[in-house]
Amino acid sequence: MHARSSASLSTAVMVATGILLAPAAPTAHLVDGRFFGPTSSQPLALTANESLLAVANPDNDSVTLFSVAGTEVKRLAEVEVGREPNGVALLPDGTKAYAANTVGGTVAVIRINRDRGVARVIDRIRVGTEPYGLALTPNGTKLYVTNTRSNSVTVIDTQTDVVIRTIQNAGFEPRGLAITNDDDGDDADETVYVTQFLSLPVPGKIDGQDDAKAGKVTAISTATDAVIGEITLNPLADAGFRAAGDAIARIPPATPPAFTFPTGAYPNQLNNIGIKGKYAFVPNVGASPNGPIRFDVNTQSLLSVIDTTTNADAQQTINMHRAVAQQTNTTRRFLTIPWALAFKHLANEAYVVSAASNVLFKIAVNPATGAAAVQPDPSDPTRVLQIPTGKNPRGVVVTSGDTVAIVANYVSRDITVIDLTTQPERVVATLQSAALPAPGTVADLIHVGKELYNTSIGEFDPAPGTTTPIRGRMSANGWGACAACHPNGLSDNVVWIFPSGPKKTISQHTDFDLTDPTRKRMRLLNHNAERDEQEDFELNIRAVSGGQGLIVQADGITQDTTVVNLVPLASAHRNQLTVHGVPAWDAIKAYIQYGIRPPISPAIKSDPRVQAGRLLFTAANCQSCHGGPQWTSSRLDYTPPPDASRIKNGQILDQLRAVGTFDPSALNEVTANGASPVVGPDGFVPDSLLSIFAFPQTFLHNGTASSLGDVLDNVSHRSAGTGGVDVLSSAADRATLIQFLLSIDARTRPIP
Ligand code: HEC
Ligand code: HEC
Repeated sequence: MHARSSASLSTAVMVATGILLAPAAPTAHLVDGRFFGPTSSQPLALTANESLLAVANPDNDSVTLFSVAGTEVKRLAEVEVGREPNGVALLPDGTKAYAANTVGGTVAVIRINRDRGVARVIDRIRVGTEPYGLALTPNGTKLYVTNTRSNSVTVIDTQTDVVIRTIQNAGFEPRGLAITNDDDGDDADETVYVTQFLSLPVPGKIDGQDDAKAGKVTAISTATDAVIGEITLNPLADAGFRAAGDAIARIPPATPPAFTFPTGAYPNQLNNIGIKGKYAFVPNVGASPNGPIRFDVNTQSLLSVIDTTTNADAQQTINMHRAVAQQTNTTRRFLTIPWALAFKHLANEAYVVSAASNVLFKIAVNPATGAAAVQPDPSDPTRVLQIPTGKNPRGVVVTSGDTVAIVANYVSRDITVIDLTTQPERVVATLQSAALPAPGTVADLIHVGKELYNTSIGEFDPAPGTTTPIRGRMSANGWGACAACHPNGLSDNVVWIFPSGPKKTISQHTDFDLTDPTRKRMRLLNHNAERDEQEDFELNIRAVSGGQGLIVQADGITQDTTVVNLVPLASAHRNQLTVHGVPAWDAIKAYIQYGIRPPISPAIKSDPRVQAGRLLFTAANCQSCHGGPQWTSSRLDYTPPPDASRIKNGQILDQLRAVGTFDPSALNEVTANGASPVVGPDGFVPDSLLSIFAFPQTFLHNGTASSLGDVLDNVSHRSAGTGGVDVLSSAADRATLIQFLLSIDARTRPIP
C-alpha cells in the first residue's frame, strides 16, 4: 500500500519552502568534489560538504531533501521519484541525487539546483529487478546499484547517466554496498563490497544446526567492474547464550532445566556494510535455529568482519547482544535487527541502528585487528549507550567532522538528528520526512500493524486512565520481533527447530489471495495446518520472544493467561490490546493481508522455456496441490474454531498432503526438545510456490532439498498429481519446469 502524492512525476517540481540554502562553508579537511572516507549504501545520503541531505521514503514513493548546517536541519522539499525507493545517493557536489526504485526497477535521477530552489526527476534509468542499494565511488563518477532479484550490479556513469556495465552473477540477493577510498584522487582501483542478504548452506551441514549457513559478500573491482571474489562470513561457534539442551544432538532439557549448552549462530540478513581502515564490518541478524527454543537463543545481533587485505573473514565476529546481557544495569534493551551502521571519519567508532529496538548504539573498533566492542554509556557505565531514535531506524549517516549523526526511521517516516559533540551523544531534533497515513484509514491500520510487526519493544500508548506506557508487549527486553525472522514480512529462509519439528520460516506474502480485492481467502497456517488465525501467533510473542503479548483481559491491559485463548485451534474471539486506537492483532493481520509485497521474479514471462515449463506443470497436475492464486491448495474453509473431528495431533488433517518428504531419520527431523516429531507422517500443507525463486537452496519444511532439482528428484512428489504416473522422468523436462517455477510471482497467471 502506498500513499501517493498527486503530482505527476514528469512534471514534478520541488515544492520548496522558499529558496534552498546556499552550501555551508566546507570543513577544513574536506577535499572539494570528493567524499571523505569510504562510501556505503543507505536510505539517506549527504553531500561531501554535508549541507544537503536526501532521505528515501519507500512507503511514500518519494525522496525528501533537507538542508544541513551543523545540527540545524531544515526540510526543503519532497520529490516523487517512483515506486518504493529504498536507496538514495547524492553526488559529492549535490547537483544530482539518485533513488533506487525497488518496485519500479529504475534509478531515478533528480537534478537539484539549489540556487533556483528546484529539484526534479530528469530521468529514470532502467536497471535490473528490484534495485535496492546505491553507492557512489569517492569522487562520485560511478554509481553502483544492487539488483536484488536479478543477482546483478549495475554500474552507471554519473556524468552521462548511462549504464556502462551490468555485472552478472554478483551473488544471491545483492543488497548493501560499500566502496573503499584510497584517497589517491581517482576511482580507478577501489573495491566494491556487496552483501548478499540471505546466507547460504555450508556444504555437509543441515539447516537447524547453528553453523548450517554462512554469509556471503561479493568483491568487485572498480578497475574492471568485474567480480574479483566472494568472501564467506563464518558462523560464530559460541554466541554467548546457553540453551537447556541440544535438539539436533537429541539431548532434551533436564527437569528442572539447566542452561549449560553453548549455542552458536550463523550470519543472516546482511543488509548493510561499512568500511574502516583495512576492515569491512557487516552487522547482521544471526540465526541460532537449534532447539530448545527460548527468547535468547533464537535470533542474535551479529557483527561480522572482513579483512580487506586478504578478502577473507577476519575471525572477529561478535554477538552484540552479549554486551547488553553483561551490563549490570537491569534496564536493558537488546540490539535487535542491527540493520545498518556508519563510521566516524576521524575516530575508530561507528553508530549502529537497532531497527527493532528503536535505538542507535556505538561500537569501537581496533584498527589493527578489526576487533569490535559495544560501547558503554559514558554517563552511566552500568549500561550500554543507547540513543533513542524514531520508530524502526534503518539507516544512519555521520558528517565528515563527526559532529552530527542523522538516522532515517522507516516506520515513523522521520529523521533523528543527533549531536555527537556531547558525551553522551544527544538527540537535538526529530523532523518528519514524509506524511503518515491519516488516522482511522485502512492505510493507518496497516501502518500500525507494520509498526507492531517490526518492533521488539512494544511500548505503546499508556493504559486507559494512566500515563505510563505499556511495556514489553512484543518481547522480553526488546529481544525479538516478527521481522527478526520475517524481514519485510518475508522469510529469513532459516529452518528453525520448533516444538513440532524443523520448520522453514514461511514468507507471509503467501497467506492471503492477492488477486482477491477483499483478501478474504486465507490458507491454513504453518506447515502442519496447526494454526488458523494470525492471533495464534501470540504464542510466538510469548513463548519465542518472551513478550507480554497483545491478548488481554476485559480491562484492556492485563495479560490474558486463560489457557484456551492460547490453544491455536481453539478460539476465534480474543480481547486485544488497543494500540494507537486500533486493536493490535487486527492491525497485524491488515499488514499481513495488504502490506507485504511478494518479491518480483526477474524471469521473462514470454521466455519459451518458461512457457514450456508451465505446460509441464499442468501436465503433471502440480496445480492439484499448488494451484490457484496463492499457489497452494490449502484454504481456510471454515470460521474458526474448527470442528473437532477435523483435528488430528493438533493439525487440520484434510489440509495435509503426504508426498514422501517426511524422513524421520534426517538429522534435523527432531522437535525443539530433542524428540521425534509426532507430526509429519500425515504430510504437510502444500507450500505456496509464489515467488519461490527468492528463497535459495533451502526447500521443504526441513530444508533437506537444497535445490528445486532436489525437490523434483522425489518421484512420489512429482507424480502425486497424476495418480503415481511419472510424467517428469526426463531430467531435461524437469529443468524446463524449474524455469517456470523460478518465474512465478504476483504477475503470473494463476493455474486454477
Ligand atoms: C524465531 C523465528 C520467528 C519469529 C520471531 C516469528 N516467526 Fe512466524 N514463522 C516462523 C517459522 C519457522 C514459521 C513456519 C512454522 C511452521 O511451519 O510450523 C512461521 C510461520 C508464520 C506464519 C504462518 C504463515 C503461513 O502461511 O503458514 C505466520 C502467520 C507467522 N509466522 C507470523 C508471525 C508473527 C506475527 C510473528 C511475530 C509475533 C512471528 N511470526 C515471529 C518463524 C518465526
Ligand atoms: C499431492 C499434493 C502435491 C502435488 C501434486 C505436488 N506437490 Fe509440491 N508440495 C506438496 C507438499 C505437501 C509440499 C511440502 C512438503 C514439505 O514441506 O515437506 C510441497 C512442496 C513443494 C515445493 C517446495 C516449496 C518450498 O518452499 O520449499 C516445491 C518446489 C514443489 N512442491 C513443487 C511441486 C511441483 C513442481 C509439482 C508438480 C510436479 C508438485 N509440487 C506437486 C504437495 C504436492
